[in-house]
Amino acid sequence: MDKHVEITPEELSEPVTYPVEAFLCPDYARAEHERLWPRIWQMAGRLEDIPKPGDFFTYNIGDESIIVVRADDDTLRAFYNVCPHRGRQLVNSPDATNGTWGNAKVFVCGFHGWSFNRKGENTHVLDKDDWKGLLDDRSRTCLTELKVDTWGGYVYINMDPDCEPLREFLEPAASILDPFQLEKMRYKWRQWAIYPCNWKTAIEAFMEPYHVAGTHTQLLKYGQFYSYSKPYGKHSVSGFDERDKSQKTSQSGSVARAGLGDPRVSTYELARENYETLNHSGSTATLVNAAKRLKDELPEGTPVKEVMAHWLKSAREDDARRGVTWPEITPEQQVRAGLAWSLFPNQTILQGATFALAYRTRPYGADPNQCIFEAYALERFPEGEEPETEWVQAEPTEEHWGMVLAQDFSNMEWVQRGMKSRGFRGTLPNPHQEQKITNFHRVLASYMGTGSPRKIEY
Ligand code: FES
Ligand SMILES: [Fe+2]
Repeated sequence: MDKHVEITPEELSEPVTYPVEAFLCPDYARAEHERLWPRIWQMAGRLEDIPKPGDFFTYNIGDESIIVVRADDDTLRAFYNVCPHRGRQLVNSPDATNGTWGNAKVFVCGFHGWSFNRKGENTHVLDKDDWKGLLDDRSRTCLTELKVDTWGGYVYINMDPDCEPLREFLEPAASILDPFQLEKMRYKWRQWAIYPCNWKTAIEAFMEPYHVAGTHTQLLKYGQFYSYSKPYGKHSVSGFDERDKSQKTSQSGSVARAGLGDPRVSTYELARENYETLNHSGSTATLVNAAKRLKDELPEGTPVKEVMAHWLKSAREDDARRGVTWPEITPEQQVRAGLAWSLFPNQTILQGATFALAYRTRPYGADPNQCIFEAYALERFPEGEEPETEWVQAEPTEEHWGMVLAQDFSNMEWVQRGMKSRGFRGTLPNPHQEQKITNFHRVLASYMGTGSPRKIEY
């Protein structure tokens, strides 16, 4: 492994390269489970997964499995998924099911029947006196607890007892995203697949819009996809940049924006295209319908800013009538929040006022060539009208994921393969549009002690 040299976020705007060991090397993949995953806050699920006391789910990362449970007192608890007797997994949690869900008053180990309440305390040991009093010390019989906290409706766990608070770990991304109130959204759909590439290859396919012109070519007729990319500490954001500054509005960096030509028409076409080809995410039915009316409601030649303002106002009113309230997001907050966030290490969130499209990737065991890939759509629904959803394992094809995601899938596996070539001279990430990727490697290297991006000498 290389000697570790740090690079500053500012230096990432220069041409840099990062090594591909992080994607390919079996030793590196194993080392992640020592140096990275046990030391960070990782998103384990959403609060809506466990609405009632006793509801629990398991979250697997490498060989670790964690139980997150809503305890009686309505607080969350997280435990390592292992019985303290002889080490049976307490709740069977095969990787092939992407977690186990249930409700438990007590967790009973299937091997010898030791039992635990929702606070992790032991409530039953058969023939306890055989241990000659040793097990009177309750710390020998309870489950091992770990840190758990929430933000934006997400549940995070951390295996490091001395870790920084979750909020600190997530800042400043958490504060910039707070106005979108992700905690008020609910799953619209959620799918996962075991996919043949490294988890980083997968998440990086969703970090930058620089690939739109080459991958999602059908979108080019609707707009330009020039983008910026900006590190914020461990995390980073990207947004659309207008090459033509007169087109700039507070919305134009985000997914809800105008397209090329007559904005009354192109706004609709772009919103509809996003919605239909992204598996009914990336916009909402309300936004698409309101955009469709723009041509009737506004005269020809209406400037783009007025078109956008009218569109969002009428969509907001349409939603209000059906019981969906939009959060108050100022133009400054909108600009700062951009298009899509990468929360270190493995969360991507593309956010709108009432919806989000999000991804998470994880290693599949310690195999650098496989990952667990998940995508899900969140939306604000009228109260009581939230759909019932569950995780669905789906083949990575257009039929299951829509055209745009299928196009992304059509790169990931082949990036994983291509990087192995001895003819590959090294990565050349775009210094303006792909800083999310290089910042990711910068932060990753700070945990792994290797793999930092470095400046390329001219
Ligand atoms: S391993 Fe759990 S009760 Fe024996
Ligand atoms: Fe894409």
